[in-house]
Amino acid sequence: MQIKKYNYIDLGSLIYPLFIQENQKAPSEIISMPGVYRHTMASLHDELLYLQYLGIKKVLLFGIPDVKTDQGQSAYCAHNFLTKTIEYIKAQFPEITVFTDICLCAYTLHGHCGIIDKDSSHIEGQATLSALSEMALNHARAGADYVAPSAMAKGQVKAIRSKLNSFGYDDVKIMAYSAKFSSNFYGPFREIADSAPKFGDRSAYQLNYKSKVNAILKIDQDIKDGADIVMVKPALSYLDIAKHVKDKFNYPLALYNVSGEYAMAKLGAEKGLWIERDFVDEILTSMQRAGADYIITYHALDVARWQKKSQKRKFDYAECTAI
Ligand code: PBG
Repeated sequence: MQIKKYNYIDLGSLIYPLFIQENQKAPSEIISMPGVYRHTMASLHDELLYLQYLGIKKVLLFGIPDVKTDQGQSAYCAHNFLTKTIEYIKAQFPEITVFTDICLCAYTLHGHCGIIDKDSSHIEGQATLSALSEMALNHARAGADYVAPSAMAKGQVKAIRSKLNSFGYDDVKIMAYSAKFSSNFYGPFREIADSAPKFGDRSAYQLNYKSKVNAILKIDQDIKDGADIVMVKPALSYLDIAKHVKDKFNYPLALYNVSGEYAMAKLGAEKGLWIERDFVDEILTSMQRAGADYIITYHALDVARWQKKSQKRKFDYAECTAI
C-alpha cells in the first residue's frame, strides 16, 4: 500500500516562527537556515499573505533590535518595533494567532536571557521578572494572543500571569518554554538573532540534558503557575521527555523543532543525503506520535506548500514581489 505523506500533518497544529528586524531596508536570508528570513515590515506582509494562502494560522514572533544595551531596555519599553508589528498583524490579518517570544537575549549586549548583576555575573531574579512581565504586558496591549516566556527565569510564568491579570488581560494566554534544555541545537538561531552569550553559557538557567527529573518538575510548576501550553525544547532528541510529559500531565503540549534540527534536514537534503519532504514528514510525525499538540517549526511553510502541491515559494523576498 502506498503511504500518503504530508497530509497527516495538521496545519492547525503548526506554529511558524517569524523574525522581524528593526530598521532593516531589505529582508535577509539566514545562511545556515535556507528559507528563513529576517523580515522587514514589507516582506513580513508578503510572508503573511503567503501563509494565509497556504493555511498556516499561527506565528511566533521574535524581534531583532537595532540597538542592544546592557539591560536590554528596548525589549520592554512601552512602544517598540515589535509592538508595532503585533498591532499591524492583528489589524491586517485578524485570523492569525500571534504568539510572541518573551526573552532578553536578542536585546542585551551580553546575550544572556535576563538582567545580569555586574558584581556576581548572575541573573538578577527580580529585575529579570519585572522586565519580562513588562515586555509581556506590552505585547498583550498590542494584541498578542499568547506570550511565550523563554528566558527560563525562575517564577516567570507566575510573574507574567499576575501582571497580565492585574491589567485586565486575563484572556491573553501563556505558552511556557517550560522544559528548555541547554542544547547544541540552537546554533543557527543564535546567528539569526545575534544572541549567543558573550561570556559563559546558559547552563545556569537552561536544563541539563542528562537529567529528566528537572524537566518534569519545571512542567509541573508551570502548569500550577498558570501556563496554558507547556513546551519541551528541542524536540527530536527529547521525544522521551515529551511522551512522559503527555502521559503524566495530559496537558496541552508544544514541541519546538529548533533551528539546528531544521538546518540538519535542509543541509542533508542539499547534499543529497535524503529527500527533504520524506525526512520532514518522518520527523514531524514522530513528534505527533510523542504527544505534541503543537509543533513550532521552520518547516511549516514547506509542509503547507507540499500539501498544496505548490512547487515553489510564491514570493521573491529579496525583491518583495510576487513571482
Ligand atoms: C532564547 C531562545 C532560543 C531559541 C528560542 N528562544 C535559543 C537560545 O537559548 O539561545 C532557540 C530556537 C531555535 O534554535 O530554533 N531565548
